[in-house]
Amino acid sequence: MAGPDRQRPGRVVDSRSVSAVPVEHVDELRAYAESAAGCTRCRLAQGRTQVVFGAGNPHAELMFVGEAPGFHEDKQGLPFVGQAGKLLEKLLNGVGLQRSDVYIANVLKCRPPGNRDPQPDEIEACESHLFRQIELIEPTVVATLGNFATKLLSGRPLGITRVHGQEQETTLGSRSVLLYPLYHPAAALYTPAMLKVLESDFARIPELLGRSVAPQLEPELALVPSAAPPAEQLGLF
Ligand code: URA
Repeated sequence: MAGPDRQRPGRVVDSRSVSAVPVEHVDELRAYAESAAGCTRCRLAQGRTQVVFGAGNPHAELMFVGEAPGFHEDKQGLPFVGQAGKLLEKLLNGVGLQRSDVYIANVLKCRPPGNRDPQPDEIEACESHLFRQIELIEPTVVATLGNFATKLLSGRPLGITRVHGQEQETTLGSRSVLLYPLYHPAAALYTPAMLKVLESDFARIPELLGRSVAPQLEPELALVPSAAPPAEQLGLF
């Protein structure tokens, strides 16, 4: 990322895929993850093995947001460690990135029973965890994987088939980011045509990372969580 933030004292200056996140945000992110580990905001707390907060580079310029932990994620406490995760890693490698370059999180931090779809009240209960993550990581590109993340973060009910590959500038928390909707890797696993589209959308990621985004707004002017319509109005279900 270019720009004046790179020069600010106390900010981390790092390699290509890394943003200038203040060192103290990393500690805050760690502390936030620790407090979220005991979250009981919704019914999913009862059936989970553990909270799957998110993982990866806390300075990442590129952040992925999936849907919810599945069986393996719930057991290991890490996002995207199953088959969909393997594909995500392969796609990343294809554009010259490693998993360790990016940050990966989900809309829901706990596994829904039987991997059913997230419910509106679960998304509502959980979304502030995601918005806080985004605020602390300060990515420049947020790639949403599938319908749930795309609808939540775009604040629009348009499905992934309509909007995949179409980046849009938006404000998340106090941050201007490029939102980049992509097909969910789990959907592409068994549908070769969808995999082709996902690969070609992925191929644009380096270009998007190279783009500068509009300056940050003052935090009090840009609080998206309170501005976003409730999950049900977004047509998530
Ligand atoms: N699918 C998701 O959306 N998230 C995961 O962490 C794993 C599979």
